[in-house]
Amino acid sequence: MLNCAPTLALLAKRCETDERDALNRQFGKGTLEMNDIRLGRLQPLAPDPLLSITAAYRADDRAGKIDLGVGVFKDEAGATPIMRSIANAHDQFSTLEKTKAYIGPKGWPGFAAAGAALIAGDEASPALLERIVTTPTPGGCGALRLAGDLLRQLRPTAKVWLSDPTWPNHAPIFSACGFEIAKYPYFSIDEGLKEGAMLAALEQAAPGDIVVLHACCHNPTGEDLTEAAWAAVTRICVERNLLPLIDSAYHGLGDGLEQDLAGLRSVLNAVPEAFVCYSFSKNMGLYRERVGLLAFLGETHDEAKAVDSHILAAARQNYSMPPTYGEALAFLTLDDKTLRADWRVELSSMRERIKMLRAGAVDALGVHFGDNRFNYLNRQKGMFSMLPLSADQIARAREEHAVYIAPGGRINICGLPQDRLDEFASAIAAVSG
Ligand code: LMR
Repeated sequence: MLNCAPTLALLAKRCETDERDALNRQFGKGTLEMNDIRLGRLQPLAPDPLLSITAAYRADDRAGKIDLGVGVFKDEAGATPIMRSIANAHDQFSTLEKTKAYIGPKGWPGFAAAGAALIAGDEASPALLERIVTTPTPGGCGALRLAGDLLRQLRPTAKVWLSDPTWPNHAPIFSACGFEIAKYPYFSIDEGLKEGAMLAALEQAAPGDIVVLHACCHNPTGEDLTEAAWAAVTRICVERNLLPLIDSAYHGLGDGLEQDLAGLRSVLNAVPEAFVCYSFSKNMGLYRERVGLLAFLGETHDEAKAVDSHILAAARQNYSMPPTYGEALAFLTLDDKTLRADWRVELSSMRERIKMLRAGAVDALGVHFGDNRFNYLNRQKGMFSMLPLSADQIARAREEHAVYIAPGGRINICGLPQDRLDEFASAIAAVSG
């Protein structure tokens, strides 16, 4: 039977205090009779901490405002254009699609297989590819939720281990699935990657627990696992029978398509079972089309196929079938040699832009702070890094300087204005003083 206690706890948190107390008295022992809860008693929730930044930024009419909030790629004009390869794929798509009838749970033909090949890489052995099944999902977020829903049915007492810090939506997703969340130390600006503490924490995980790892371009820190750290985490997962669940939302935005998934692939080659939640939002600029994949690696082909049927059933119970337009664009881009080559060129220039902005920010901050304390930005990968700012300083950056920074001090490097890095650095120095 479904354990509803976490649902009750979640609901209780959202109610007025007196309502919550009454709920606790009534349902404290975990029995569940909540049909008569007045929905109108719910307190409004605060808006999403990340997504609300975009709305606040848009509503700000100050000239020179700087948006370092939500993770979208931006060019030097501050725009997020449709990628050239994707626009060309759209042209192909327009002539291909003849109907809007259902396609089915595996989505646009060829997409799931192309995704599996992209994740496993050109060097993957046929034996490894045979063990991987992929299902299209509504974005990477949909893949996380689908994996979480299925795992919660199969491993109801397992914990989900998240890096501290991690993407602010990880804990809500896995909590909503009903999981207890545990954290492993990961990063601080002063210490960098906390490899020792991370491994020590994971040594304490119980067999069957789920370890969420970031494939590359760690969100929010930009600090990725080293090759040695990937090897150590993999060893612990194998020895302690932990299930790796690897979130890959920034493939290609770190060092390159091959380099960025080297750690992930080393895990897939070593463990019996793993999940990968893959997003095309950033590396194909398909944000609003919600293009994601859930990949499962089984110990054998037959076992993977069996799990696949459960994944499809969980999807059917949730959203039935995935949206296919964005999948078609992703598939056409990967499948057509010319489009694929062009996509790689575009991705490479996005990567170079991020690196250039990182270096520029380090220089500008160095001038304003008079030291090299921000050099770590150059070592980090992808869209994000963190600045050592308190909540108060982040609020002042917004109020006094129109610089929008995500909670915890996360900045989207792509949002840095190339020609006004000095202004940005001066604002950070002003609120830091
Ligand atoms: C982000 O972290 O900013 C992006 O992944 C957008 C989101 O959904 O949070």
